[in-house]
Amino acid sequence: MRPMHHPMLPSDKDAVAGLSLTAGLTRRVWRFSRSYHPRVAGFLAIIVAEALLGLLPPLLIRQILDHSIPSKDRTQVSVLAAVMIGAAVLGAGLSLAERWLSAAIGEGLIFDLRSRLFDHVQRMPIAFFTRTQTGSLISRMNNDVIGAQRAVTQTLGSVVSNVVVLLTTLVAMSLLEWRLTLLALLLLPLFVIPAKRVGRRLAAITREGFDLNASMNTTMTERFNVSGALLVKLFGRHEDEQRGFTDRAGRVRDIGVRSAMYGRVFLTALTLVGAVGAAVIYLVGGHLVISGTISVGTLVALGVFVTQIYNPLTGLTNARVDLMSAFVSFDRVFEVLDAPNPIVDRPGAVELTDPRGEITLDDVWFEYSSGAEVSIASLESEAQHATSDRAGGPVLRGIDATIEPGQLIALVGPSGAGKTTLSQLLPRLYDVTTGAIRLDGHDIRDLTQTSLRAAFGVVSQDPHLFHDSVAANLRYARPNATDAELEAACRAARIHETVASMPDGYATVVGERGHRLSGGEKQRLAIARMLLRDPAVVILDEATSSLDSENEAAVQAALAEALHGRTAIVIAHRLSTITGADQILVLDEGRLVERGHHAELYAAGGLYADLYRTLVRGEASLT
Ligand SMILES: Nc1ncnc2c1ncn2[C@@H]1O[C@H](COP(=O)(O)OP(=O)(O)OP(=O)(O)O)[C@@H](O)[C@H]1O
Ligand SMILES: [Mg+2]
Repeated sequence: MRPMHHPMLPSDKDAVAGLSLTAGLTRRVWRFSRSYHPRVAGFLAIIVAEALLGLLPPLLIRQILDHSIPSKDRTQVSVLAAVMIGAAVLGAGLSLAERWLSAAIGEGLIFDLRSRLFDHVQRMPIAFFTRTQTGSLISRMNNDVIGAQRAVTQTLGSVVSNVVVLLTTLVAMSLLEWRLTLLALLLLPLFVIPAKRVGRRLAAITREGFDLNASMNTTMTERFNVSGALLVKLFGRHEDEQRGFTDRAGRVRDIGVRSAMYGRVFLTALTLVGAVGAAVIYLVGGHLVISGTISVGTLVALGVFVTQIYNPLTGLTNARVDLMSAFVSFDRVFEVLDAPNPIVDRPGAVELTDPRGEITLDDVWFEYSSGAEVSIASLESEAQHATSDRAGGPVLRGIDATIEPGQLIALVGPSGAGKTTLSQLLPRLYDVTTGAIRLDGHDIRDLTQTSLRAAFGVVSQDPHLFHDSVAANLRYARPNATDAELEAACRAARIHETVASMPDGYATVVGERGHRLSGGEKQRLAIARMLLRDPAVVILDEATSSLDSENEAAVQAALAEALHGRTAIVIAHRLSTITGADQILVLDEGRLVERGHHAELYAAGGLYADLYRTLVRGEASLT
């Protein structure tokens, strides 16, 4: 059957390339599951014991048929039957123990993989998140993690059990009657040859299914958050969204049917071969019994054994398939765990204590790096990945500046000049490409990230709030803040009255990303949150959109309070902030083109004078 091709999906070639990794992967999985090895050993020992126990009943039956019954030995019949019961009870106990061990191992592995993934992913630099599709990432944490644990418990267990059952049964059979055993084995190639092919196809289908699931997840996480839902509605795209989604859901359905049919056709063929095998044993064995070569008991025991070798064979061929798809999952989980993190603490990084807030920029150049360096291709969308290696060129070009503790710096410049980018370099959301940024004389790359970030309070252009109460959102900045401290911060940020008038006050839950608040309210709440952190340096990216005249005065007052006694870098769109700044830095196309006070820059009649006149016109039209 031809696979369906789609630009977003890995081709057959990818799937097979993934499968050829299994040798290295096996070692990796082995190392990863090291702490479970004692339990795995116990689990496997139980499986072997169960397999050996399975040999007992046919041999007991043979004994009853060939010896107890002909010699009319009633005691022996009772004893043998009792042994059968004992074996069954022991088998039941072993099966419970086996299940407990496999569940403990499997769930433990899921836990390990999940917590490692979570830890690794949340430490990734911001560039990783700007490129990654959230839904795909979540899918790795759910579906693939579960797929991976199956490799270790279900699949490994069934492989071992089947191998042991197969070998011991074959040994028992050949001891009973080697010619009939050979006969049964002649049918073996009928199992093994198609199994290989089906295994490969099924693994490819599984990978395709996981990718489609991930892409559905992405659609849901993007469309079912407030901003996404708003876009869909305002642009009336329901029909198209529905079409795109059902297209993928439909392909998941088709894949499900295909893989079910692959599995079942194969299973049916095997059952058929098994039945034929048993018939052949009885055909040939029956004649041998009539001619007196073997006993009835031996034939019956062989008849039972022969079904016991075809079952594990079926299991083994399926195990191959399961193992391959489980390894696909492991592969995908490791892919995320292996993603390199370029922003890590340097060995011997120092803790910054009592920051003063003196900042120097020393010939800072910055360029957003290409996708390959910061993300995983399979977690990006195809369109994005295609453009990922196109270099964007430098966004900041040779910035030199010194900011004294306690100064208020206004960063101004046209849209796209690099203001936000520059502000993000300070707390090391990105690393400079060349040059250096120093805080209190330390290169920020020599400081621990935790202590560096503790020195900064950032209020971004579009502040984010979690879907939680106002108080919980504020305490994100300082978990042990008292109610009084929350209120003080909110009063300073001129948002206390608003919060107090909400239905549940500070316990009011703000919707996802704060969608129950106006833009200005959200920004003031973000300022309050930042104040709770009490940072040495404040970075404020004023949002032009929240500049309505009613909020203006409140935000202005909040700012004055927030910036008092701290180094402040404000990406300013408000005249009052700009004119009151100790130093104005004018950025244009990544270059620092002008710097100084309002009066001198305005008098110089350059880019700043132009920007200023535009702002004056804008504010005049507002009032
Ligand atoms: N994550 C990113 N990856 C690649 N390029 C980016 C990224 N973020 C911003 N850029 C580019 O860097 C340049 C500077 O963007 P930046 O956001 O710093 O501008 P800005 O001065 O803050 O503009 P605005 O006033 O509109 O907020 C722009 O050309 C932008 O396209
Ligand atoms: Mg910006």
